[in-house]
This record gives sequence, C-alpha cells and structure tokens, in this order.
Amino acid sequence: MAIIISLINQKGGVGKTTSAINLSAYLTLENKSVLLVDLDPQGNASSGLGLDIRSLEQGLYEAIMSGRNIDRFVIKTPEYMPDILPASQNLAGASVELVHLENREYRLYEVLRQIRTRYDFIIIDSPPSLGLLTINGLVASDEIIIPVQTEYFALEGLSQLLETIMLVKENLQPDIEVMGALLTMYDRRNRLARQVMKEVQEHFPAPVFETVIPRSVRLAEAPSFGKSIFHFDSFSKGARSYRSLAREVISRSQQRNTPKT
Ligand SMILES: Nc1ncnc2c1ncn2[C@@H]1O[C@H](COP(=O)(O)OP(=O)(O)O)[C@@H](O)[C@H]1O
Ligand SMILES: [Mg+2]
Repeated sequence: MAIIISLINQKGGVGKTTSAINLSAYLTLENKSVLLVDLDPQGNASSGLGLDIRSLEQGLYEAIMSGRNIDRFVIKTPEYMPDILPASQNLAGASVELVHLENREYRLYEVLRQIRTRYDFIIIDSPPSLGLLTINGLVASDEIIIPVQTEYFALEGLSQLLETIMLVKENLQPDIEVMGALLTMYDRRNRLARQVMKEVQEHFPAPVFETVIPRSVRLAEAPSFGKSIFHFDSFSKGARSYRSLAREVISRSQQRNTPKT
C-alpha cells in the first residue's frame, strides 16, 4: 500500500518540482515502485522526466473527471524510473470546473485509491497556489513535504500554508501529517542563506529534514535533458543531497503507522 506524499508550497520556484522528480527517481533506484503525479497544469514534472505533454491526449485531468479505469491514464516508464500520471492540456481548467463537482475535494483521493496498492510511494507535485487542485493533493496525501527556498522571503506564506493544512486535517482528512520542511537552493557562502536556514531549523513549528538541498546548476540543467539528477550526473552534490533526502523519507515512512485504507 503506497504512502502518498505531496510537495506543497503556494510559492512558485521553491523547488517543489525538482524535489518531486528527484525524490521519486531515487526511490525507484532503491527498488521501490513509484508513481509521480503531476498536479501542476504547467506540467514541469512530466516534461522534466522527458514527456512531451503537448502531445499527450489524456492525463490527470481526464483521470479526475472520469474517476474509473485509472490505469489507462498512467504512463509506464522503463525500469528504475517512476510511472507518471501526467498533467494534460485540460488540467489548467480543472480548478474552475472542480468547483461545480460533487465531492470536489476528494477527486484525486478517489483516483489514487484505485491504484495505490500497486505502489510503495506516490509522489504528488503541486501547483504554486492553495486552490482546489492543491486541496485535492492534500486530501489525497498521508504526508506533506514543504520545500522552502533559503532566501529572505522564504518564511512568508508558511503560516498560511500550515493553517490550510490544519483546516484540511480538521475538516477533510484527519490522517494527514507534515513529514517535514525541506530547505532548498542553499548557498553556504551566503550569510543570509545561513541565517534563513538557522531560523527555519529553530522556529519552524513542524519537523525539518536534516538534508539541505544545495544550490546546484546541475540540478537546474537535468530537466532540460528530460532526466533526473541520478540519470544526468549521479556524482554531483545535487544527486548526493537528493539521495540523502530519499533515505530520510524512507526511514520516516517506516516510522509511520500503517497507512489508512
Ligand atoms: N537546488 C537547486 N539549485 C539550483 N537550481 C534549482 C534548484 N532547485 C530548483 N532549481 C531551479 O529553480 C527553478 C524552480 O525550481 P522548481 O523545482 O521548478 O520549483 P517549483 O516547482 O516550486 O516552482 C527551476 O528552474 C529549477 O531548475
Ligand atoms: Mg513546479
């Protein structure tokens, strides 16, 4: 039974997609079976793993709307790569259309419930907003990872995010937990980055991963080749850091109680 993990931060450019791609890629290298769900209409997680999303005729939008036979929407990939439930063209309209649907917050939950027994991990990459798509991601999840960019405005918006997670927990999905905040794009030569890191580690009201993701050009280059960092440059410091994150995620997952059914 898969543990379902969403990467969430309503801010764009904080490393959600990069973390979703590389975390899921490394989990597959550890022989886990993994599904990557691309909940962001921009489709960066899908294209970052080499899919041409403009040529896709169906994907997550169609899966959410149909709610049945979800398998046909999943793209199977070669060994040691995650399967992908890609963003499709129509996903951009979904947050508006969902408003009118019954059980609108539970649509992704229902979709994943049908296939979660087949995976060890399902990783969800979220859009940069707290709209209905992200809420669907939260409701479908057991655990949340919050990527936080180590820069000056990093902490802004985090209390709103934590409050949203609390509201979802109280009203829609009681079992959801924050696995941790993940510091990203850290530049240790930068004094401000060091300060922000310290501040998050000391004051963030939820766990913070020990692993800190460094700023690294290789991490930014890999998606343009449609590759994870492990397939692009497995000896880089970026690869090392995501390997260490994935190991923390595996060990924190093992500490969980049995996931909900
Ligand atoms: N650790 C890193 N070092 C350098 N560049 C990074 C790093 N993580 C992400 N990036 C780059 O920063 C940009 C935003 O990252 P992304 O993962 O797409 O964020 P989000 O999904 O939160 O919008 C992308 O161009 C990405 O390649
Ligand atoms: Mg993204």
